[in-house]
Amino acid sequence: MPIDHYPSSSEVREVGPRDGLQNEAPIAVEARIDLVDALSETGLRAIEVGSFVRPDAIPAMAGTDRVLASITRREGVRYRVLVPNLRGAELAVDAGADELEVVVSVSGTHNARNLKMSVDDSVEQIRRVVERAASADVPVEAILATSFGCPYEGAVDPVRVVALAQRLRQAGVTTFSFADTTGMATPLTIVALLDELTAAGWPTDDVALHLHNTRGTGLANLVVAAQRGVRRFDASVGGLGGCPFAPGATGNVPTEDVVHLLDSLGMTTGVDLEALILVALELETVIGRQLPGQVMRAGPWYRLPSA
Ligand code: COA
Ligand code: ZN
Repeated sequence: MPIDHYPSSSEVREVGPRDGLQNEAPIAVEARIDLVDALSETGLRAIEVGSFVRPDAIPAMAGTDRVLASITRREGVRYRVLVPNLRGAELAVDAGADELEVVVSVSGTHNARNLKMSVDDSVEQIRRVVERAASADVPVEAILATSFGCPYEGAVDPVRVVALAQRLRQAGVTTFSFADTTGMATPLTIVALLDELTAAGWPTDDVALHLHNTRGTGLANLVVAAQRGVRRFDASVGGLGGCPFAPGATGNVPTEDVVHLLDSLGMTTGVDLEALILVALELETVIGRQLPGQVMRAGPWYRLPSA
C-alpha cells in the first residue's frame, strides 16, 4: 500500500476508564460513571468501562458492575469490559456488558505475573469465555498483551505472537487486539508483526492496536499501522495511565491526540475533538494532576483547517 494511502475511516476505542484508571488511586464509582457518561457524548463508539478482576489485585476496578448499572447508555456506543477468566466473563455478562475483552500475554513471564496463569491455562480460559459469551450473544475480543516486547523477557518475536493468535482462533476468537503493554514497540516492530500476520493470511480488518506512549513512539506506530490498513486503535482520554510507582511509565496514546491525527489523515473518527478535550480537562481535576495529552493544551490551533 503506498504511504499516502490511508483507510477512509477509523474507530477509536476509549480505554481510559479501565486501562487509565486501573493505575490510579481508586476514585468514587460516581466519578467513574460521570467519566463514561461524558465520553459517551463525544461521538466515541466504543468505551472500555472497567474490568472484572480480583478487587484486591486491582482495587481501582472494584465496582465495575455498579458503573455498568448506572451509566446512561447512548445508542450506538458499545460498553466493553476486560476479563481475565471465565469467572470474570460470568460477572461481566450478568452485569450487562456489551462486549468482552479477554486478555493473555504472549510472554509467559508477564502472563504469570499479571494473571497468575500459564499461557496454556489462559487459552483454556479464553475458550470457555468465548463459549459463555456466545450463549449470551456477547462478542469477545482477545487482547494479546506484550505483543511487541515484555518488561521481563525483552523483545517478543512476531512469530510467537501469530502462533498464539492462531491458537486463540482455534479456541473460537474472531477479533484480536495486539497490545504494546509497556510501550516498547517502534514503527519497525509494528510493521514486522503486521507483515507476519499478513503472511499468515490474517485480514487487517480484524486487527486492532493497543498502543502505549512510554517511549514516545505511540503516534509514529499508529501512522505506520494505518498505512498498512489498520483502522481500529485504543486510546485513553488525556493519555491517562501509567503506574504511580514506576517513574517514567506513561499511559496509552492520548485519545485527543489520536483523534486529531486520524482526522488529519482523512481517517474519519466521528469524534468531537473539542468535547473530548473538555472531558480530559475535567478529568485532571478529578484525579488531581496534569495529564500528558498534548492536543488538549495546544490551544485553538489544534483545529483542522476544515473545522
Ligand atoms: N473477578 C473477581 N474475583 C475473581 C475472579 C474475577 N475475574 N477470578 C477469580 N476470582 C476469585 C475467585 O472467586 C476466588 O475467590 P474465593 O477465594 O473467594 O473463592 C479467588 O478469586 C481465587 O480464584 P483463582 O481462580 O485462584 O484466581 P487467582 O487468585 O489465581 O487470580 C486473577 C487470577 C486473574 C483473577 C487475578 O490475578 C486478577 O484479577 N488479576 C488482575 C489482572 C489485571 O487486571 N491486570 C491488568 C489488566 S491486563
Ligand atoms: Zn494497556
